[in-house]
Order: sequence, then C-alpha cells, then structure tokens
Amino acid sequence: MPHHVQREIRYNFEYDRRIRACFIGAGGHAYRNVYPAFRYAPIDLVGVCDLNLDRASQFARLFGGERAYTDHHEMLAKEKPDLVFLVTAYHPDGRVQATGLALDALAAGAHVWMEKPTAASLAEIDALDEASANAGRMVMTGLKKTFFPTIEKLRDLVDSEEFGPLTSINVRYPQSLPPLGERSDLVKMQSFLDHIYHPAAILHYLGGPIERVSYEWEGRNGATVTNIRFRSGAIGTLHFTAGQSGASLFERVEIIGEGANAIVDNGSRLTVYRRASLPSYGRAASFIQPDEHAALIYEPEHSLGQLYNNNLFYLGYVPEILHLTDAILSGGEITKGTLGVAREIMKLFEFYRHTDAGVVATL
Ligand SMILES: NC(=O)c1ccc[n+]([C@@H]2O[C@H](COP(=O)([O-])OP(=O)(O)OC[C@H]3O[C@@H](n4cnc5c(N)ncnc54)[C@H](O)[C@@H]3O)[C@@H](O)[C@H]2O)c1
Repeated sequence: MPHHVQREIRYNFEYDRRIRACFIGAGGHAYRNVYPAFRYAPIDLVGVCDLNLDRASQFARLFGGERAYTDHHEMLAKEKPDLVFLVTAYHPDGRVQATGLALDALAAGAHVWMEKPTAASLAEIDALDEASANAGRMVMTGLKKTFFPTIEKLRDLVDSEEFGPLTSINVRYPQSLPPLGERSDLVKMQSFLDHIYHPAAILHYLGGPIERVSYEWEGRNGATVTNIRFRSGAIGTLHFTAGQSGASLFERVEIIGEGANAIVDNGSRLTVYRRASLPSYGRAASFIQPDEHAALIYEPEHSLGQLYNNNLFYLGYVPEILHLTDAILSGGEITKGTLGVAREIMKLFEFYRHTDAGVVATL
C-alpha cells in the first residue's frame, strides 16, 4: 500500500457513524488547526474542556461541542467519550500537561489523540505505553509532518525500485539548543522539546530507527549540525538552523537514493530528480535531458477553493485525525504517530539533553 494515496474527503455530516469525542484544551493552536479539522472527520464533539470556562464555552459554541467543562475528570465521567483530543501546554516545571491527561483519558476507556510533545522523558512514554496496552486503547501523537503529502511521497520514493533505497538524508529546521549546563532544566528545554518532534518525525518516517549520533554546537545562537547513522545503514544530517531569518522558508528535506534524489522545500514544493546520466563531460552543448529523465515538480495551485491548497490538508492536520478515526471505525491499528515512534523521538531528545557536542552516542 503506498503511503501517499489520493483520498476523497467526506464532510463531517456525511458520515453514517461518528465517534463520540471530547476535547481538552481551548487554546490557540487548537482553535486554528484542530477543531476546524473536525469539519472533515467522523467526530461527534460532545464535550469541550478548558481551565477557562469562557473559552471552553466559546469553543463549544463555535465548533459544535454540546457541553463545556473546566474539570476534565467530570467531563470524562459524564460524557464517556470513545476518543479524547488533547491540545494543552506545559506545567510550570516544563513537563507536558497532555501526558497525565492521556493517562486519565485511557483510564476512562477512551482512545487518545494528542498534540506533540507526547511527553518530556522516555520513562513517561513507557508509562503511557503500559496504560494504553492495559486499557486496550490507542494513543496517537499528531506527527503532522508524516502526513504532509510531499513527505508521504518521499516515503513512497525510498520504497520504490526506481529511486531507493534511502542512502542519505538532510533535514534542515530552525531550532536552538541551549548550552549543555542549562539542559537539565526542562523549562529552558521547552522550545527544543516542542519542536524536535517535527524534524525527528520526518527522520524516523523516512530513515527508520537511528543507531548512532553526534553533533556540533554553535555558541552564539545554539545552532547544531548532527551526524546520523540509521540502523538501515543510511546516513543523514539534521541541521538546526537557529539564526536564520524570520522571513526565510522554514524547512527543507532532501533524500538521496541510488542515482536519484528529491527535495521538499517549504513543506509544499517537491522536486524529484529521477535517475539520469550527466550529459557527456566537456562535450555536451545542451543541458536538456530526455523527457523520461527530467525532474518532476509538484506544488499545489493556489487559485481554486480546494482542500489540497488549504493548510488543514497540506500541513497534515485533517489526515492525521483521519488516521486515528479510520483505525477506530475499522477496528484496525494506527501505524503513524504511535508511542513506538514517540519513543524513538524521545531517545533523540534525551541524547541532546545529556550529551556534549562531539561525543558519539549509540541510541
Ligand atoms: N503541530 C503543530 O502544528 C502545532 C502548532 C502549535 C502548537 N502545537 C502544540 O499544541 C499544543 C498547544 O499549544 P498552544 O499554543 O495552543 O497552547 P495554549 O497555551 O494556547 O493552549 C493550551 C490550553 O490548554 C488549556 N489546559 C491546560 N491544562 C488543562 C487542563 N488540565 N484542563 C483543561 N484545559 C487545560 C489551557 O487553559 C489553554 O487554554 C502544544 O502541545 C504545542 O506543542 C502544535
């Protein structure tokens, strides 16, 4: 089954069966990107909870939630949801609020869809894994990058004979790593924890588990370049471009296969350089290659009021919810955003947290 499939989207009210769902968190990201995605998913939103009742009520009113709460225990007990969405933030000590809320939702018998970060330590991921197994309920982290159509297409390329397998990869993403002496403080590591899930999700999705890592650190803005060796034998670099302009394109991913490579710029522009030979060196008068060797470029048109040119889709927000609702409705399992993937991401986070620049570590 290819990773990228052209899917026809159903609108919320067109589903025969919708999942009884509650939502904890009425904050900024949820407002912009998660509640609006329910328009395209089989979700029956029965309860909305926030510590701020006014916001919970406003969100419920706007997004079709039936009742508003400030206490999630009360909501879970009264509404008995089959699925709970968690889009919350951080405790004052830097731990992730959603980790404990996920345990509460599992204890109430619900599946969980949560924003990244899943947790702030490997031990917490293990506790979630155990609770999920005991409850027989899934916990999915919304690793949106693995749902970008462009990144799914990269995965299909590395799985294909014409392109792959993956031999090397470069992921470039703006993020600063604090000095080693500050990294035991989770509050100082909050931004790093918040963001590492994005590029690390791409690395894992395309390259699989990492075997060995080391990095160099720049002292002025905390930029890093990390060398990676995957268990598959592929190699890679993760370039955290702290210090780049706020007007710059944000991120870039390049994969190299065997005689072919592909680049995703800015999340939504994919260029595939198919297998081709260099024209004869020192003799060829033209750079135009035969059509079957020409590069392929994919990017959305921005004229029509379509779904694919809306960020709810090309940034993966609707697809990451459908991945879990499909699994729930069909009695199947999720394959993306699993606790196993979150575990691999946390290993990388803990490596940065505890390892000095220049030291080679095995994950
Ligand atoms: N994937 C993405 O593109 C993306 C983008 C931005 C943010 N995020 C993630 O989304 C999450 C939220 O970010 P935000 O900027 O919207 O935060 P926010 O602070 O605006 O919202 C968090 C909300 O959760 C509520 N809350 C916290 N604990 C609660 C509890 N026990 N019960 C009820 N409500 C509770 C708070 O009152 C607040 O309204 C973070 O995990 C962040 O990493 C993801």
